[in-house]
Amino acid sequence: MARILLTGGAGFIGSHTAVALLARGHEVALLDNFSNASRSVPPRLKEITRVDCPVHEVDIRDTEAVRQIFAAAAFEAVIHFAALKAVGESEANPLLYFDVNVAGTLSLLTAMRHAGIGRIVFSSSATVYGAPEHCPIAEIAPLHATNIYGRTKLIMEDMIGDLVRTGILSTAFLLRYFNPVGAHPSGLIGEAPCGVPTNLMPYLCQVAARQRDCLTIFGNDYPTPDGTGIRDYLHVMDLAEAHCAAVEVALGTHGTHAVNLGTGTGHSVMELLHAFENTTGIEIPYKIGARRPGDAPSCYADPALAKTMLGWTAKRTLVDMCRDSWRWQFLSAKVK
Ligand code: UFG
Repeated sequence: MARILLTGGAGFIGSHTAVALLARGHEVALLDNFSNASRSVPPRLKEITRVDCPVHEVDIRDTEAVRQIFAAAAFEAVIHFAALKAVGESEANPLLYFDVNVAGTLSLLTAMRHAGIGRIVFSSSATVYGAPEHCPIAEIAPLHATNIYGRTKLIMEDMIGDLVRTGILSTAFLLRYFNPVGAHPSGLIGEAPCGVPTNLMPYLCQVAARQRDCLTIFGNDYPTPDGTGIRDYLHVMDLAEAHCAAVEVALGTHGTHAVNLGTGTGHSVMELLHAFENTTGIEIPYKIGARRPGDAPSCYADPALAKTMLGWTAKRTLVDMCRDSWRWQFLSAKVK
């Protein structure tokens, strides 16, 4: 059992990871500035887990405030989720992304060093592979940023790796997520995008809820079996369990380890749409639009390292992902 601080702990992946860590008997504290997370998340976490975990409303850029949290309780490890993640916004406002993501990570790492916390699990992304040359993508594939958001993830990975190399940190897991979707099966927590969703699953859910007229499929002329883009969709509870495994392995190891988190199976936009329709019984109106600039035809993981290093494989199916995403959408719309 360990005491772990989750930055961005009230966000989509952070909150699900808190549930998974608490279920495994760890002690969890959340740090969040609630810029992109709802204040309803902590009470809902309590409803799910029956545990009242401490919540620190702090910005990671406030090094002194983070230092005070570390001074008040001894943490064995930090899981660092707090970051901005919208590709379009990052291109429109690079300085904001450098400030929150890069300077924020620098501030957190400074506070960790001061407190002598040597272990970090970092929320990275398959975006670090840029436009992949071939799939499945293994961790040794070339790294390449195609936008500012991706650049910040690469810089953050490098900063953390350098601190391990120079002995300031002992252990780092750089977890490269493919496409997290789904929600906790209770329907109490899930992804709550601000404004018009840019990702496929939240958009599909809003069309199903009749909040949007129809889904635009961004291109059906890719070199894939049905012409639509292929991605590695991964249930957020599987992803959460991978974080538990990473933190537990980190407690007994040294060094920097980049690990892909995906199922290893790609599904096209059309396949996901049909899986969603079959699971929910709701017909999804759609139209074919132009390709979205910067989209790769196919992107799916080689998840072999996650299995050997972490003993983790994704268990949940596309049906689980669609059912849980829709339940969350349906229940959260009812609460509003
Ligand atoms: N798509 C549509 N219509 C939509 C939204 C998406 O057809 O309205 C398609 C996309 O073209 C793509 C697929 O659905 O083929 C998945 O798109 P998402 O936006 O859901 O996911 P991406 O793979 O493009 O992006 C995700 C993360 C990014 C990360 C990237 C690479 O959201 O943060 O993976 O790791 F940078």
